[in-house]
Amino acid sequence: MESPKRTCETIANVDVTAVCDIVPGKAQKALDDLGLEAKDYSDYHDLVKDPDVDVVVCTASNEAHYEVVMAALKEGKFTFCEKPLALDAKQCMDIIEEEKKQGRRMLQVGFMRHYAPEYVQMKKMIDDGVIGQPLMIDERHYNQTQPEEYDSTRSIIETAIHEIDLNHWLISDDYKNIRVFSPLQTRHVQNKDIKDPQIVMMETKKGINIYLQVFVRCQYGYDIKCDVIGEEGVLELPTVPQVATRLDAQYSTKILTDWKARFESAYDIEFRDFIDHVSQGNSPEGPSAWDGYIAAVTADAALVSLENDGEKQDLDFPERPEFYKD
Ligand SMILES: NC(=O)c1ccc[n+]([C@@H]2O[C@H](COP(=O)([O-])OP(=O)(O)OC[C@H]3O[C@@H](n4cnc5c(N)ncnc54)[C@H](O)[C@@H]3O)[C@@H](O)[C@H]2O)c1
Repeated sequence: MESPKRTCETIANVDVTAVCDIVPGKAQKALDDLGLEAKDYSDYHDLVKDPDVDVVVCTASNEAHYEVVMAALKEGKFTFCEKPLALDAKQCMDIIEEEKKQGRRMLQVGFMRHYAPEYVQMKKMIDDGVIGQPLMIDERHYNQTQPEEYDSTRSIIETAIHEIDLNHWLISDDYKNIRVFSPLQTRHVQNKDIKDPQIVMMETKKGINIYLQVFVRCQYGYDIKCDVIGEEGVLELPTVPQVATRLDAQYSTKILTDWKARFESAYDIEFRDFIDHVSQGNSPEGPSAWDGYIAAVTADAALVSLENDGEKQDLDFPERPEFYKD
């Protein structure tokens, strides 16, 4: 049923029928800003039960993911949940058990980098053996700034979680261990309990070493780096093309400050793929609750390591259940 004021311009075959935010007026403001009309609920329980809602998209704060996703799955609704799937591995496993009750995949997790054309190309080149066996990955995940309440845990479960999820997909290898420690801290955070920057080091079962710098108050921009170093050569993640300027004896290009602009196409491709599947009544095929669980197990161990001055934490994952095999 087509309803012009509910239709999303970027993604076909989907109408926004209802929204919800616990802060009064916030969801309505979003609707107004977008020129959309939809029911505005103050309690997500009402939204997931609404017969006009076929698909639930959870972009609430991390703390709310578990309860919203569980409620949506209990109603048998296809669900998209932003990363992280939940706050820890135990919550993710509960979600997996709830999803299994539906007898087929109902959920996709918002690990959108799987859809970023540049990462897709890198993965294909790795799979095709272009650089031979990958040996190391060198990464950066910097944000320009975050509020004081953005603590060390969020740097792991909300920021580093992207690379934690991405790397083992990229190189088709499982993690063996993880270490997280903090070097000299930035002066741009007052609370001395907050560790920023953090250094995350992971080793895979094959012995590939991954070095990731997480710095959420770097001041200068949103900066993502991913070099995969293989035995025959190196793959470098490209940055978003920016016009270079030669002016006043300087040659310069801008660095983006907005994560939305950095991965703009990935968000659209991701969501189109999700809607293409579920609007036909088919299970989503993007990152699954199992991927959310693997990331959460790794993030849980990362936090233990951070608490223990970078002590190495061994990782041992159960085999991917048949339910989640491609
Ligand atoms: N995939 C990505 O690249 C990406 C990028 C940014 C944010 N995210 C994720 O998206 C989520 C939201 O991030 P954000 O920056 O928009 O956060 P935000 O704090 O700006 O917005 C979250 C909203 O959720 C609302 N909320 C909290 N509990 C709720 C509940 N029980 N019911 C209804 N609403 C509730 C809050 O009132 C708030 O308005 C986070 O989980 C974050 O990790 C993902």
